[in-house]
Formats: sequence, structure tokens, C-alpha cells
Amino acid sequence: MMVSPNSSKWDLGRLFRTLAFFRTIPFLGSFDTISIPGPQKQPEKTAKRTKGTVLVVGATGGVGKRVVKLLQQRGYDVRSLVRDLDKTRPILGPDVQLIDGDITIPQTLTPPVTNDLKAVICCIGSRVQPQEGDTPQREKYYQGIKFYLPEVIDTPEMVEYIGVKNLVTAVTTAATEKTLCDFTQPTREMQANWGALDDVVMGGVSESNLRLVNGTAFFSGNVSTANSGGFASVRSRNFAPPFNLADYTGIDLRIKGDGNRYKFFIRTDPKWDGIGYSYSFDTAYNIPFTVRIPFSEFVPVFRAKTVPNAPPLDPSQIYSFQIMLSKFEYDGQLNPNFKPGIFQLQIESIKAYGGKKLPQFIQVSSAAVTRPGRPGNNPQDQIPIVKLNDQLGGILTWKLRGENAIRASGLPYTIIRPCALTEEPGGKALFFDQGDNITGKVSREDIAQLCIAALESPTAMNRTFEVKETEYFGPNNWENLFTQLKPDN
Ligand SMILES: NC(=O)c1ccc[n+]([C@@H]2O[C@H](COP(=O)([O-])OP(=O)(O)OC[C@H]3O[C@@H](n4cnc5c(N)ncnc54)[C@H](OP(=O)(O)O)[C@@H]3O)[C@@H](O)[C@H]2O)c1
Repeated sequence: MMVSPNSSKWDLGRLFRTLAFFRTIPFLGSFDTISIPGPQKQPEKTAKRTKGTVLVVGATGGVGKRVVKLLQQRGYDVRSLVRDLDKTRPILGPDVQLIDGDITIPQTLTPPVTNDLKAVICCIGSRVQPQEGDTPQREKYYQGIKFYLPEVIDTPEMVEYIGVKNLVTAVTTAATEKTLCDFTQPTREMQANWGALDDVVMGGVSESNLRLVNGTAFFSGNVSTANSGGFASVRSRNFAPPFNLADYTGIDLRIKGDGNRYKFFIRTDPKWDGIGYSYSFDTAYNIPFTVRIPFSEFVPVFRAKTVPNAPPLDPSQIYSFQIMLSKFEYDGQLNPNFKPGIFQLQIESIKAYGGKKLPQFIQVSSAAVTRPGRPGNNPQDQIPIVKLNDQLGGILTWKLRGENAIRASGLPYTIIRPCALTEEPGGKALFFDQGDNITGKVSREDIAQLCIAALESPTAMNRTFEVKETEYFGPNNWENLFTQLKPDN
């Protein structure tokens, strides 16, 4: 028998192993296939519908614990970052999701803390206590009633500025980026979800695999053009449930290549061999870089043929990814960089980028943050907290820097600056002002109510204001109060 120089022995066993991996059976005489459902996770049937998840930071504090209670009463899921789980559970009860962490330690602000948030309500504060020492119940000294010389326990720069900035950065990153495959944190499940899909399915002999080693996924192998073949690829099994990336702009690949041109495919239906959406990208030898692919730039294809009439990629249902090195571009065109033989592409992560759903950030700051060192001889700049600012580690100065980080973040925000906080019952009519000139007091209960009102009113967005109570009892017309405020520039 004559053997053509570009033909090699085809391995039928590899074809069946490939199809078995993807749980697919070929119909005789055609390459149509059916998919057999695998042992994949099903979406929870009885998922409780809530108004969304709100992260409360400082939930063990005077304002924070009241905010938690009100959020629960109003049907939100509450998540809280706390420094001491054992101390917190009895304070907040069983229904709050508690995560151990500290805003001054960025490594603790992980995706379980920051993912899928409707809002953040930040009620943190550096601990200030009477110099004589706090009572066992950590009761507050009541400003204006009994005055002890205060001292600060934490470092205000770390808590009020660095900590708040860490939190803002973590929340913004989590909202704008969604990690889909993080190969720096490999798991067995991740390895098991990717399989080779080489030209053996068309009679070819190319061979590849994906190995998770040293915090990266190595897509490597040998691509051969024998038997009219010429592609090697790895594909994920179908995600269950599929990713909904409707709120994102595209895909972000962190890679290190070998100079070859590769293709990245997305499939938006669970079928084995339906339309895929493809994007070709070039790599440089051994240089790490990021490829950002807007969803709008993926080309609909059936195998290597473009399908001009196909609907545009629907990012709300993403079932699988595939990474390929192919001799072909599209519609018979050749990959201009293609060389048969050994290849290697390292993939660090696959993420969605450009998330458009940003959580609201509500900050409980303080009146008087702009007063230390303010020019002029205003009586409102002579109140005790302003005079004690240096002694208290510059607490007001650092709170203002924290506010600035929030205002610059691009997150929709509300910054509430209460006058002296009290443990008195709430229910007072509140007075709002801007310009940082008022003095007075306000109950922590009313500040907690105000946080919820800000969460639920778009009119409160991007505003910074001071608040104190009046001598009258409420109720407050929140919309009227927020409407009086000027938005920050
Ligand atoms: N006192 C006043 O008259 C007054 C006036 C105006 C504004 N304010 C401000 O209003 C805000 C709320 O006051 P509040 O009396 O409710 O505060 P608070 O009772 O002192 O509570 C502070 C909270 O912040 C948490 N926290 C501190 N450092 C943290 C860190 N590094 N990581 C995570 N959590 C941290 C504390 O957690 P732990 O339980 O772990 O300590 C606690 O839950 C504060 O910013 C305060 O400065 C106070």
C-alpha cells in the first residue's frame, strides 16, 4: 500500500477517549452528536429571593449592629467582615454571613467578601475610649454628659484611610472583574473540567493537553498537518450553570505565549458542535501579557467557517471555553504565524472584565473632618474633637482622606457625616447640611435608618453631607432631605 508522505496512523482509541471525556456520542455516518448530561452541579431549586446582598463593615459597632438589623427586617441578605467571629455571632445572630477579616489587611478582602454585592455600608471607626479604660460592655462615654479624656486604640491612618481605601479597591475590582478560571489556585475539579480536543476528531494526529502546574495552566503539545489535520485544542466541559456575563464588557486572558497565533472560543449553547464564537490573538515568545477581547469582537463560526447570519454572542449564557492552535484562520484562510510542531501557551486566568453593575458605597464618616487647620476663627472649629485631632492620631484628617478615596473610586456613593453620636432612642427629625459647619448630636438609631434610606434612594447618590437631630420627633421625609443636597463635583 502507498503511504502519502503527509499521512500518519490515525488513533481511533483517542477519538473515543475525546468523545467520552466530553460525554458525546457520534451518530454513525455523520459527525452530529448528542450531549449526555454529566454529574454537574444543578442550580439550587429553592433559592430564596432577596433584595440583594449588603456587606456591612463595622457590624459589631454601635451604628453597624443597628444597620444589620434594619437590613434584615427589609429583606436584604447581610454579609459582614469581622475581626472576631466568636465575639460577633452572639451580637448579630445566626442569619448574618460572617467572614473573618480586617480592612487593614488587603489579603482578607477576598472574593467571598466582595463578590455579588448590591451595596457596602461601612460603619468602621478606630477605637476611641476613655483614658481610664472601657467598661466590660464597651459602653460609650456620652459626649456632653460625662467627659473623659479619650484615647485612640487603633491607628487612624490604617483604619480610616488605608483600610477604607483597601475596601474600596477590593469592592471595585470585584465588581468590574469576575474571575472565571483562576489557574493560580488550581483545584482537582478545574483540572478535570478541561480536556484535549485535537484534530483526531477529523482523522488527524495532533496531540495536546492542559496541565495545571506552578500556578499556571500549560496548554501544550504537538500540532501536525498529517492526514489533512492541523489543529490542537483544549476545551472545558459545559459549565453548570452557565456563566451569566451580561453585565460585563468582555474576556480578559492573562497569558504567556510562544509567538504563535491562537484562537479563543466561547460557546453560548450546550451543544457539542454548534456555533462557536472565536477570536484570534497573537503571542510573543515568553512575554506575559493580557489579551482583552470585547464580546462584540468575537466572530461567529461553525468549525473554521464564519457564519455571518448568526446572532451576536449572548454573554448571558456561556457554556464553555476552548483554546486552539490551528493551521487555519477562517473560511480557508491560513494562520499567517502557523508552524507545525511543539507549542506551549501558559494561561494564568480567564476573567470577565468591564463589569457595569457597581455596588453602592455608603460611608458613615464624621462631621468636622475638614475642620482641623481650617483657616478662620469659627466657633464650630473649636469643638473638642477638632482640638483633640492630633492627640487622637489625626483621626479626622484620616477620615477625610478615606472619604476622598471613596469619592475618587467611581463607585456610586453616599457619605454621611454625623455630629456627636448618642445611644439615645431615635425617631427624631433630622437636619442635613453641607460645608461642614454644624454642631449637635444624633442618635445611632437614626443614623442606621438614614443608611437604609440612602441605600434605597437614588437621590442620595454621590452626595456628602453632615447630619444632626432637631428637637422634634420624625418621621423623616427622606426624599425631601436628599433633594436639598447638592451632588459633589
Ligand atoms: N462617637 C461619635 O460621637 C462619632 C461622631 C461622628 C462620627 N462617628 C463615626 O461614626 C462611625 C460609627 O461609629 P460607631 O460608634 O458605631 O463605631 P464603633 O461602635 O466604634 O464601631 C466601630 C466598628 O469598626 C470595626 N472596625 C474597626 N477597625 C476595623 C478593621 N480594621 N477592620 C474591620 N472592622 C474594623 C469595629 O470592629 P471590632 O468589633 O472588631 O472592634 C467596630 O465594629 C465611626 O466611623 C465613628 O468614628 C462617631
